[in-house]
Parts: sequence; structure tokens; C-alpha cells
Amino acid sequence: MPPQPPLQQPTIFGLPLKYVSLLTLALQNAALSIVMHYSRVSIHPDLAYSPATAVLLNELLKGGISFVIAFLRSPLLSQPSNVYPLTRRRPLYSLPALWWAAFSDVCGEIFSADAWKLSIPAILYVIQNSLQFVAISNLPVATFQVTYQMKILTTAAFSVAMLRKTLTGTKWLALFFLAIGVGIVQLQTATGSGHRSTPAPTSSNLVGSAQEFHHHMSPLKGFGAVTAACFTSGLAGVYFEMVLKGSKADLWVRNVQLSLFSLIPALLPILYSAPSAADSHGFLKDLFRHFGGWAWATVSIQVFGGLVTAIVIKYSDNILKGFATSLSIVLSFLASVVLFDFEITPAFLIGASTVLSATWMYNQPS
Ligand code: C5P
Repeated sequence: MPPQPPLQQPTIFGLPLKYVSLLTLALQNAALSIVMHYSRVSIHPDLAYSPATAVLLNELLKGGISFVIAFLRSPLLSQPSNVYPLTRRRPLYSLPALWWAAFSDVCGEIFSADAWKLSIPAILYVIQNSLQFVAISNLPVATFQVTYQMKILTTAAFSVAMLRKTLTGTKWLALFFLAIGVGIVQLQTATGSGHRSTPAPTSSNLVGSAQEFHHHMSPLKGFGAVTAACFTSGLAGVYFEMVLKGSKADLWVRNVQLSLFSLIPALLPILYSAPSAADSHGFLKDLFRHFGGWAWATVSIQVFGGLVTAIVIKYSDNILKGFATSLSIVLSFLASVVLFDFEITPAFLIGASTVLSATWMYNQPS
């Protein structure tokens, strides 16, 4: 039998998309924690934007961008002869007719019979994205990042249960170390040893003012939220991987389906907490109350991250995704020392290095 040619891996700017997307995800994760944290804690609670608006915007933008990509990738646009497959010669179509055909084709794929499968990860992701706001508002950035690594544990558990993956002894040992590492970091944050005793924002420390509102943080609430988010992350990620790799449907079509199903749970809290007619300034004005530059930056980074996550799950898997995010701990921790006046304690160093070594060990080929 002649040797099989290697599978063509997609590339971007000549580099393998797989590694570019993993590195991008690591940088995105680091940027998101810092910007999201700052957008919440640097502002007085009375002037805070609504996380529900951010979650809704995230889904609307992600779904819109995914739709445009799915549309532009339509085979009808690249090979117009597909429009009428029975025609022998390449016909001349008017551009609007071609676009309409491609638009109808993509819509047909989106509203296909198996679209309902995306409803489960969609609801889970909306819950997770909302929990993330609770967690990040109540924990220091680095602690949030390290604790959030527990999702490697839940992802592994759901991968074994749902994708029938088998894990070697080394990988389970790595998961055990991961839990210990996360525990050490939790312990030192609970005793409050991660902050300097006299937070003093300086003009040279641009975002030092984030310290001013640290007394509003409730670590217990933060850890509760982050633990729940780890469960939804593992379950939703593995479920999305299962749906994506179990069918031939296009990644971007799946993303649109995911966003469409997310709209309902994302809208519910907005409608539920709508101000009374007397206090209302109109639906849109209420929605975007205090929604400033930092809030837009948070949503943009989240939208970008959602799109990159989908690429990572498609071209790598949830395990490599864990590796990428562990790299982001190092980045965001270093940034927190500079930006939020975070103090490096020996306990944090031991905890963080245990988490990083465990992540490295977990990602070793068996
Ligand atoms: O932390 P984790 O990796 O589970 O986070 C995944 C994030 O990516 C969530 O915010 C989710 O909304 C987003 N996502 C997405 N599209 C996908 C998969 C995940 O927007 N196809």
C-alpha cells in the first residue's frame, strides 16, 4: 500500500493554525482576567455596568461574526456553479442572487434538525460566563486564574465519562497535583496574605486604584463561583467537542447555533431585573447604563476568546486548551504584580509552580 500523504493542517500566515490558536488563547486568557477584573473593581459598585448586558453582547457579537465567516466560506460563493449543479457550463449570476443563495444555504444549515444539540452547551456557557463575573469581582486576578485551572480536572472527568477517553496513571497523578496546587493558592488567599498591607495607588501605577475597592471582595463567594464555573466549563467544553467531532457540520455554523441558543438564557436576567417604568430611561439606555470603555474592552476580549476557543477545540482538543490557559497564569500573574500591586508570597509561588508542573506533566505524551 503506498504511504498516505500527511493530513493537510490549516495554516495562518504560514504557521500551523493549531499552535497559533493555542498561543493566542493563552494571551487572550491573560488579557481577559486583567481587563475584566479591572473593569469591575476599579469602579464604585453604584457605577458598575451590568454583567448581564456583557454576557448578551458577547453572544450577539460572537454569533454575528460566526455567521459572517460561515457565509463567506459558503461553497456557493467560491464555486458559483454549485448553485445549479445540473448546469453544464459555468453560468453568470448576478451578485445579489449569488449572495441570496449562499445566505439561504447557511440559514438552512443553521436551522438543521440537529441544531438542538447545541442548546445544552449554550445554556452551560451562559451560566459559566455569568459566574465568571462573580468570581473575578471577588478574587484577585492571579488567584482566580490558578483556581480556574480546576477545570482541567472537570474536563478530564467529563472526557472520560462522555468521550470514553482513557487516562494513564501519570495523567491522574498530574490531576492530583493540580488539585493540591490549587488548594495551596486558595489557602493563602483565604488568609489574605496575597496583598500588601497598605495599598497605595501611585501615579506611576496606572491601575493602582483597583486596590481601593478590594474591601468589597468576598473570597468565599468568589471560590464558590469559580468552582461552579469549572463544572460548567468541563461539561460544556466536552459536550461541544462531542457535537463538533461527531458530525460534519461546519464549525462556524455550530458557533452560530451555540450563540442563538445562548440568547434566551442571556436575555432572561435582563428582562427579570429590568427597572420599573418610573425608573426606566428606555430599554437600550438601561441596558448600556455605565457601559464604558473598560466594559467594551472586556466584551471584545471575550468575543475574541470565544472564537479562538472554538478553533482550539476543533483543531486541538480540550486537553491542549488546558495547557494554553496554564501558560496564561504565568502571564497574568506577572502582570498582576506590576498592575495590581500583587505580592509574590512563597505559598503562592509553591501553589502556582505545582499547578504549572502538573499541567506540564498532564500534557506529556503517554
Ligand atoms: O473556560 P473555558 O475554556 O471553558 O471557556 C470557554 C469560553 O469560550 C466560554 O466563555 C464560552 O462562551 C466560549 N466558547 C464560545 N464558543 C465555543 C466554545 C466556547 O464562545 N464554540
